[in-house]
Amino acid sequence: PVPLVIDTDPGIDDALAILLALASPEVDLRLVTTVHGNVELAQTTENALRVLHLAGRSDVPVAAGARDSLVYRQPERAGHVHGAAGLGGVQLPPSPAAVDPRPAVVALAELLLASAAPVTVAAIGPWTNIALLLATYPEAAERIGRLVLMGGSAARGGNVTAAAEFNVWADPEAAQKVLGSAVPTVLVGLDVTLPTVLDAAGIERFAAAGPAGATAAAILQQYLDHARTAYGTPGVVVHDALALTEAIVPGTLGTVRRDVVVDTTLGAGRGQTLVDRRTVSRSPTAVDVAETVDSAAAVEFLVGRLESLARA
Ligand code: BDR
Ligand code: CA
Repeated sequence: PVPLVIDTDPGIDDALAILLALASPEVDLRLVTTVHGNVELAQTTENALRVLHLAGRSDVPVAAGARDSLVYRQPERAGHVHGAAGLGGVQLPPSPAAVDPRPAVVALAELLLASAAPVTVAAIGPWTNIALLLATYPEAAERIGRLVLMGGSAARGGNVTAAAEFNVWADPEAAQKVLGSAVPTVLVGLDVTLPTVLDAAGIERFAAAGPAGATAAAILQQYLDHARTAYGTPGVVVHDALALTEAIVPGTLGTVRRDVVVDTTLGAGRGQTLVDRRTVSRSPTAVDVAETVDSAAAVEFLVGRLESLARA
């Protein structure tokens, strides 16, 4: 299996993404690093510990990272989507494990430098920790085999503002640093996540498969209600789980190599990912932008894996 690190801000779809990784024999989840984002850092860290414990995997270390964005105070959290404590109002039992004493970037750098095999890093919260890794341990960042990022949007506009997707909006300067690096990167943005909707029938399947599945379904309930009232959609967009699917099975998404820059101005475009779709790029800093997805197959993959996790 490919060594995997998840950098995350759980977060309902983050929780699902972590469970998906644990259910997937193609990868070996070696470290979870946490970041500010959907809720405050202390809460995302606690949630990460508890989600791992839910799956019986409190052996996976959790290291806490950035409390805030690099330059400006993050303008808003997403408690209205994910619940004030980040997991849709569900109280998971506390984990017996403690937080790793190392800062996230140190834990990440040590793992990257010690691993003989290339490591996949999936960053599914704001990318502050990844930017800090690039700035503080560039020799470790160079060892990343694949960086799979959830965030941005090429043609769909934003979900927080007309221009910006949440993870980029939450730290545009970090996003620019990460997208401007030469690390092999796949960008999984709203173009492919928005059409990938998990509906109540899919949720019901893993809910019925065992206690961990029922808990995952309970976590999703508030998100489902929010989607129904806010967007009138009959299911939930599983942004982060789709990014994990691409991390687990490379090539799940159809990608094209593009030049991408982030709008870091303070105007109405702040946080927009400007994807140059005129040409295929040959630049060393170009990014593989996910442009096409078989959403039905991706949802089936997720539901099937969560069913097997719940049965185990
Ligand atoms: C992203 O924003 C967060 O609220 C989700 O967890 C996901 O990572 C989607 O825009
Ligand atoms: Ca997230």
